[in-house]
Amino acid sequence: MEHNAQQSQKDKIMKHKVQQSKDTTSRRSFLRKGLVVAGAGVIGAGAGVTGTELLTNGLPAFAAAGSSSLKQGDVAILRFLAAIEILETDLWQQYNELGGIQDSEVPGGSGSAPYIKALQVLDGDMSQYIHDNTEDEISHFTFINAYLASKGADPVNLEKFRTLPSSQATGAQQIGRLTNLMQLTVDTSWWTRLRSRTKNPDFGDTFVQAIPGLSAGQFPAIPRHDGDLAPTDHIQAIASTAGFHFGFIEQGGSSLYPSLAQGVSNLEVLRILLSIGPVETAHFQTWHDKAGNAPALTDPINGLVFPNLNASPFGGEDFQTNLIMPEPTIFLSRKFPVVSIIRPTEPGGSGGAVATVKAWKADGLFIGQPPEFFTILHDLAVKADVAQRG
Ligand SMILES: [Fe+2]
Repeated sequence: MEHNAQQSQKDKIMKHKVQQSKDTTSRRSFLRKGLVVAGAGVIGAGAGVTGTELLTNGLPAFAAAGSSSLKQGDVAILRFLAAIEILETDLWQQYNELGGIQDSEVPGGSGSAPYIKALQVLDGDMSQYIHDNTEDEISHFTFINAYLASKGADPVNLEKFRTLPSSQATGAQQIGRLTNLMQLTVDTSWWTRLRSRTKNPDFGDTFVQAIPGLSAGQFPAIPRHDGDLAPTDHIQAIASTAGFHFGFIEQGGSSLYPSLAQGVSNLEVLRILLSIGPVETAHFQTWHDKAGNAPALTDPINGLVFPNLNASPFGGEDFQTNLIMPEPTIFLSRKFPVVSIIRPTEPGGSGGAVATVKAWKADGLFIGQPPEFFTILHDLAVKADVAQRG
């Protein structure tokens, strides 16, 4: 028996080695092809990414392909994550210019006192948290792009799509943006999804909205101009919209990383996803807590209603504002006991790459972007979702 077991183990190792050799060949072939594609590059190496030029200039893309070079699927996952982190950085930058702290870590803008005052109704430290979330996203895309370049793969660059308008409110920079925060349709079903004890989106379940009005119109999450700074309940509604939007964005990251991690082959790439993903969840947990402090009100300008989530017809465990930790629910199979988990996490499911792009598009983040932008983002997402561990 022991001998057979050893032989079987040897067979497995041999099989693994043969597979590795095949992988290396296809990887090199892919990287050579990648070099050609990069020449046509809509998303090419370089601009705006500290250090990547140093890592890539003058070297054929496959020159760095040694024992540490990456499989096609791992490159696809990292490239999609780089794109998402660039887009997150762009939206967080806009929030920071008006509502955060502008300093050497997150430069740009000069703040809007009425907006900051309204954000502080959610928490006195909102400006600091917005700043820190922004800095984290900058570091995420910069790191992932530098890592890709170090492995001879193309970093992601979306600079050509930086054409959307800035807020005209005092405090915002006047520069081109990648994302829109002035006409948002915020899906707030994450609120009830994480409170459900019996449902899980990976089982096909759907969830009701916490703020139905926010999911059924288009609303600004930053002041569009100084005319948005009053009356008080209007700028409060804008700040509260931001509060729920923060949760929407970061819960997306919380599901995206574990969904994609299951397709990763290389252990170091897996370590990257397992180390960045929980930071998205740390952000989300903070925003989940703050959104619950949004006061009940009706925006006197556009009629947007923020209900009292602790009173009828809301209230109870599905809406109670201090229930900010995930309730145990079904996972993998109904035969198992319920468990407290991030959900969804099914590979290629409603928390995967394609679903994330779809959700962000429905959110209105990309209003004004040309068809080419969606083609590129969708292509990156499909490639990330189909990556398979092996
Ligand atoms: Fe991030």
